[in-house]
Parts: sequence; structure tokens; C-alpha cells
Amino acid sequence: MSVVRSVFDWKGLVGGLFKMAVVFSSETQKKIELICSKYPNKQAACMPVLHLAQEEYGCLSDEVLIAVSDVLELSYAHVYGVATFYTMYHRKKVGKNILMVCTNVSCMLRGAEKTLAAFEEQLGVKAGETTPDGEFTIIEEECLAACAGAPAVICDKEYFLDVTADKVEDVISACKNRSQGVL
Ligand code: FES
Repeated sequence: MSVVRSVFDWKGLVGGLFKMAVVFSSETQKKIELICSKYPNKQAACMPVLHLAQEEYGCLSDEVLIAVSDVLELSYAHVYGVATFYTMYHRKKVGKNILMVCTNVSCMLRGAEKTLAAFEEQLGVKAGETTPDGEFTIIEEECLAACAGAPAVICDKEYFLDVTADKVEDVISACKNRSQGVL
């Protein structure tokens, strides 16, 4: 075990001593068993199990990561590494609507920085933050694989394409309406 890995494991251990232990619901535990049965080993099941854990607890706090590492018999360092590498995993609570705004090359060339600024201005929070009413979190993203429709935005698995700054208000309304069951 490398020194770096040991340090992360030690942090996970200390975190576990001072925080409430997380126990997955019986339903989630059954789903975890089912997921593990479909993979050659528990390490390969790490990503879908992190998704499940996030669904149950809303975010992947230290305590939740410890629970995932326990159930998969993986080091805390491994689980922490996966959870912090991908932007679809959230380490702190996020809003009902997660606005993923791409500012990578194709989108940047078509005005994504203005698009992101318009989201920030209209929602009153910066990228990485959540509105006080808990409705929206803005996340600045790398390529969303929709370069042909740049600037691209994803909200709740729905793609919005060609989102120039003047269309930001419509995107916000569409997301709000959907989350309130209006659409
Ligand atoms: S660069 Fe934005 S979707 Fe590819």
C-alpha cells in the first residue's frame, strides 16, 4: 500500500470514528447485492453502488463513502478516488435541479462562458453552489458529448442544446416546471 493511499485510509478511519455510521436501507442493500452479482468482483461494482448510495443519501459524504467501502470491502482511498473523479457524484447536498453547463472547447467557442454567467446571474449563485431555496445547483462541466449542439447543458438527464445566454431563462423555467410536475 502506497504512503498516499495509507494517508487517505487513515483519514477515512478517523472520519469514521467521529461521525455517525451510515447504514443502507434493506432495499438498497438488496440492490447492492444484485449489482455485485452481475460483476466479476466488488471493485467493478463501485460506480453503480456509489450511484445507489447517492440516491439514498442525497450526496456522498465521508460517512456514506465509508459505508460504501465497507459493503464493497474496498479501501476508503479507492472509493474516495472514484467519488471525487467523476462530476456526477456529489460530495455535498445539491439542489433538486442540477444544471450541468459545459464550458469546454466547442461550447466555449460558441459562447458558453456567457451562458454560464447568465445562469449565475439569474439564479444568484456561482458554479458549484446551490440556490438558497434548494431548487438549483450549477456545475461547470467538461465536454457533455453534445458538441454539435454547443453550448450544451444537461439538467436531470435532459439535454438542452444551443443554449446561448438569451435562452437561459427558458431552460431555467423548463427545469423548474418539470421538477414541480407542471410538464
Ligand atoms: S465541448 Fe461542450 S458538449 Fe462537447
